Amino acid sequence: MSIAYLNGQLLAIEEAKVPALDRGFLFGDGVYEVIPVYAGRLFRFKQHIARLENSLRGIRLPMEQTLQDWANICHQLIEQNSLNNASIYLQITRGAYPERNHDFPANPNPTIFAMITALPEVQAVPSDKDLQGISVITAEDIRWQRCDIKAITLLANCMLKQQALECGANDTILVRGGVAFEATSSNLFIVRDGVIITPPLSEHLLPGITRDFLLWLAEQHGILTEQRLIPEHELLQADEIWLTSSTKEIRPVTRLNDVTIGDGTAGPVWRQMYDHYQQLKVQLYRGEIDSNTEGEIAL
Ligand code: PDD
Repeated sequence: MSIAYLNGQLLAIEEAKVPALDRGFLFGDGVYEVIPVYAGRLFRFKQHIARLENSLRGIRLPMEQTLQDWANICHQLIEQNSLNNASIYLQITRGAYPERNHDFPANPNPTIFAMITALPEVQAVPSDKDLQGISVITAEDIRWQRCDIKAITLLANCMLKQQALECGANDTILVRGGVAFEATSSNLFIVRDGVIITPPLSEHLLPGITRDFLLWLAEQHGILTEQRLIPEHELLQADEIWLTSSTKEIRPVTRLNDVTIGDGTAGPVWRQMYDHYQQLKVQLYRGEIDSNTEGEIAL
C-alpha cells in the first residue's frame, strides 16, 4: 500500500482525503510538480522547486516552505515506500474555505499533497518498444495563455490526449497559429541535419526540466542545439521527432498524422541521447557523480 503525504501527515493513500470545498477540487486552483528519483536521490530537484515557486508566484499563492522543507516531504515518501526509482507528484492548492467563492481568500491555507509512483529501473539498452516509437497527431492548442504555469487545471490536456487515443495514436502535438509548441504532457524536439531543435520558452509551453537537461546534455557531448519556433509543416520534414518529460524521458515519435517519420524507428540522434541519459543515471547509481555535478542536483 502506498504511503502519501497530506498537510504534514504521512498516511495510506486511500486515507488521504481533502474537503469537497477545496479550491483545487472546485476551481482547479493549484499547481504541481513531478520530480524523478534515481538511486533514491531527487533528480534536478532545485530546478523542479524553482519551477514550482514560479508556478506559485504565477497564481499568486505565496508559500513559506524552503527547498529543504520540500526535500523533507520527498525523502519521507522515498523512505516510507522503499522506492529507489520513482516519480514524486507534489500538488499545492489554495485550500478549502467555508463557501465556494471565486475571490482569492485573504489568508490562504493551502493544501499540500504528495505521492510517489515507481519508475522503471535504468535500461542500458532500449527495448524494442522504445525503438518502435510512438504515433502522434497534431491539433489546435485549446489550452489557456499561461502554459508556463504547471497548473493542475488539465482538462484541455486530457481532452487533447483523448483525441489522439480515439484516432489510434498515442499523443497530440499542440499547434497555435501554425506553430507547434509541445505535447499534452511533454516538450517537443525535432532533429534536422544532426541539429536538435526545440521551441524557445514562452507562455505557450511548460519550461520542462527534461528539456533543459537535454539541452545541457547535448552541449556536453558537442551536439548542436537550437531554440526556435517550429512551424507545424516542418514536423514532416524532420529527421527525428521526440517528446520529453520527467517520467517519459525521451520518447521517439515515428508516426505523425499517419505519415512515417525517418525510417519509422527511433533515429540515430535519439539513440545517442538515450545512451547519454542512461549513462548519467548509471553514474548516479554508482555514486560517481554528486550533487555538485551540474547534470544532477540532489539534496
Ligand atoms: N508533465 N509540457 C507539459 C504540458 C507537461 O505536462 C510536462 C510534464 C512537460 C515536461 O516537463 P518535465 O520535463 O519537467 O517533466 C512539458 C508531467 C510529467 C505530468 O503532467 O505528469
